[in-house]
Amino acid sequence: MEYFQISKSDLKASRLALGCMRIADKSLEQVEELVQTALDAGINFFDHADIYGGGKSEEIFGEVLKKHPEYREKMIIQTKCGIVPGKRYDFSKEHILTSVENSLKRLQTDYIDILLLHRPDALCDPKEVAEAFDELYESGKVKYFGVSNHTPLQIELLQKYTQYPLIINQLQLSIVHSVMIDSGMNMNMKESWAQDKDGGVLDYCRLHDITIQPWSVVQASWAEGCFIDHPNYEKLNSVMEKLANEYHVTKSAIAIAWLLRHPACMQPIMGTTSPAHLKEMVQACDIHLTRQQWYDLYLASDKPLP
Ligand SMILES: NC(=O)c1ccc[n+]([C@@H]2O[C@H](COP(=O)([O-])OP(=O)(O)OC[C@H]3O[C@@H](n4cnc5c(N)ncnc54)[C@H](OP(=O)(O)O)[C@@H]3O)[C@@H](O)[C@H]2O)c1
Repeated sequence: MEYFQISKSDLKASRLALGCMRIADKSLEQVEELVQTALDAGINFFDHADIYGGGKSEEIFGEVLKKHPEYREKMIIQTKCGIVPGKRYDFSKEHILTSVENSLKRLQTDYIDILLLHRPDALCDPKEVAEAFDELYESGKVKYFGVSNHTPLQIELLQKYTQYPLIINQLQLSIVHSVMIDSGMNMNMKESWAQDKDGGVLDYCRLHDITIQPWSVVQASWAEGCFIDHPNYEKLNSVMEKLANEYHVTKSAIAIAWLLRHPACMQPIMGTTSPAHLKEMVQACDIHLTRQQWYDLYLASDKPLP
């Protein structure tokens, strides 16, 4: 496993992280095995959110930590707040503080390494967010802060008021969903690929040393599910298969290697709940795709080069 220093922090993180969104309905033994497999593979970064499984994902992870208290100091635990499912986004001070209290209880830990604001709240008052961050930092409950699904200007606005650097932006990114890459390469073209839907977030994060964490790394969309072996992505699967055979890995490892090959030093979040799938994906760290192979995969997902 490769490690990197998360900019503006003292956190040395594994290049790959385990996302815990889907573990809620797993048994304690299954989650224990998944976490142990991740740690054995050198993964020290675990991503949560208060809403995953309605809180059950954090809860069962907390059970694992209770059983194995020695794991905690080996881990960087990140969680998120700010979504009240189906009702509103909520960056109020009260909501942020309550959410963190509840996450700490469920995770059975005294501190969260990184807290992310999950999705931009239209009613966000950055001064209130800054006050919540002050309290959380000063009480030792949260060490670092970041965002998820935020545009550059939304980050700038928050950053203007909070004294803590926003070190992470978690964003949807995969070979299939690469909006932030497409617009950059199609700049000034008439076609829809040129539409800048995110304010140039990729270059912004690179310029400001904000680590991008791609989410849904092998999932095309909620409706389609995983793009590996999916009939809608035949061309892509055949290029992935060719490369998988060449590197003696699985297609899932190739999909992760595509993200790792980008020079922004991104940290993909893998959402698998299967120890076997996890082991396969980790092999991506041993692969360095050539420039042409990266572009072959990009083009195989039916995207143009202008
Ligand atoms: N910030 C946000 O707004 C946001 C949104 C969504 C997710 N996230 C984070 O990102 C993480 C990853 O998201 P995700 O779960 O959508 O991503 P993902 O890793 O792209 O998808 C995982 C899903 O793909 C399935 N899958 C099928 N074949 C697979 C294979 N060969 N290898 C690996 N997985 C395969 C997995 O099933 P198995 O379990 O059977 O392997 C699992 O259901 C989440 O856990 C969460 O931490 C963040």
